[in-house]
Amino acid sequence: MNVLGIEGTAWNLSVAIVNEEKVIAMVSEAYIPKEGGIHPREASQHHAERMPILLKKIFSIFPRDKIDAVAFSQGPGLGPCLRVTATAARLLSLKLSKPLIGVNHCLAHVEIGRWMTGARNPVTLYVSGGNSQVIARKGGRYRVFGETLDIGIGNAIDKLARKFGLPHPGGPKIEELAKKGEKYYSLPYVVKGMDFSFSGLLTAAERLIGKARFEDIAYSFQETAFAMLTEVTERAMAYLGYDEMLLVGGVGANERLQKMLREMCEDRNAKFFAPPKQYMGDNGAMIAYTGLLMLKNGQQTSLEESIVKPNFRIEEVPITWS
Ligand code: ATP
Ligand code: FE2
Repeated sequence: MNVLGIEGTAWNLSVAIVNEEKVIAMVSEAYIPKEGGIHPREASQHHAERMPILLKKIFSIFPRDKIDAVAFSQGPGLGPCLRVTATAARLLSLKLSKPLIGVNHCLAHVEIGRWMTGARNPVTLYVSGGNSQVIARKGGRYRVFGETLDIGIGNAIDKLARKFGLPHPGGPKIEELAKKGEKYYSLPYVVKGMDFSFSGLLTAAERLIGKARFEDIAYSFQETAFAMLTEVTERAMAYLGYDEMLLVGGVGANERLQKMLREMCEDRNAKFFAPPKQYMGDNGAMIAYTGLLMLKNGQQTSLEESIVKPNFRIEEVPITWS
C-alpha cells in the first residue's frame, strides 16, 4: 500500500509517499517569514502557491496511479494553512478515486517517532512551536498527561530570539548561544501539577536583556524550561510505570534537551528514543505513515467529515493498532 501525505499546518509544506517499509519520497518547502513570526495568511498563500509545484515534483519521482490513498493533516494548526492542505487533499482523492484520510498532526508526530525508532509504548514528549505535551497511550487512546498552559516551548524560544534581533526560527540560534553561556540567572520555574507554563519565564528572560549577555540569557532560559519538561516527563513515566520515552517535535532537535532527557532515562533504567532530525519537525512522511496505519485499520474520512479542525486533540482519535 502506497499512501501520499500532505503536511501544511504551519511553516512547512511537505508532501511524502510511504509504504509499510519505508519513506519512498518526500519533498518540502518551508515558509520563512520576512520579519517577525509566522503570519497565518502569508503562510497559507505560500502553501497555495507551492502546492502544485511540490505535487508535480513528487509525481515525477513516483507515479500517481500507484497511490492507494491520500492523507492530510486535519489539525491542530493555523486555519488558513489547514484549508489549503485539505482542499488539495480532497481534490487529489477525488481525481485519483482513492480514499481520503484526515490525520491528527500530534498523533502523526508520535507515530512516525515510534516507526523510526522502534519504541513500543513510550511516554512521548512532544515539543514544537505551537505544542508542548506529555502524551502516552492508555487503552484505546493517546492521552495528554501534561501540557503547556499558555504558549508552546518553540514559540517561547522563537519570541526570545526575536527580542535578541535574530530571525525566525530562533530555536537553532538560541541553542548555539546557550552553548556559550557561563552564568546561570535564576528564572521562574513554573510546573503546576502535571502542567507547565512558559510565558512568565519568557518575560523574565526578556527583562534580562541589557543586563546580561545574550549567551547567558539563552543558557538560563534553556536550563529552566528544559528542566520543567524533563520533570513532568519523568513524573508521567513513574506514574504509568512505562520504561520507554520518545522525544518528537521540532524542539526535539535541541542537543541540550536530548541530553537532559537521556540522563533522566538512564537514572530510571528506561530507554530513550528520538527519530532522525528530518522526522522530528513537521514533515509529510508522518502524515502519510499515520494515514496508512489508519487506513489499514479501517479508518477513513468522508468529504463531509474532512472539515479542518484547528483545535483537533489527540484524545479524539480512536487507536485501533498496536
Ligand atoms: P506544531 O504544529 O506541531 O506546533 P511547528 O509548526 O511548531 O509544529 P515543528 O517543526 O514541529 O513545527 O517545530 C518548529 C519549532 O522548533 C520552532 O519553534 C523552532 O524554533 C524549533 N526548533 C528547531 N530547532 C531547534 C533547536 N535546535 N532547539 C530548539 N528549538 C528548535
Ligand atoms: Fe508539528
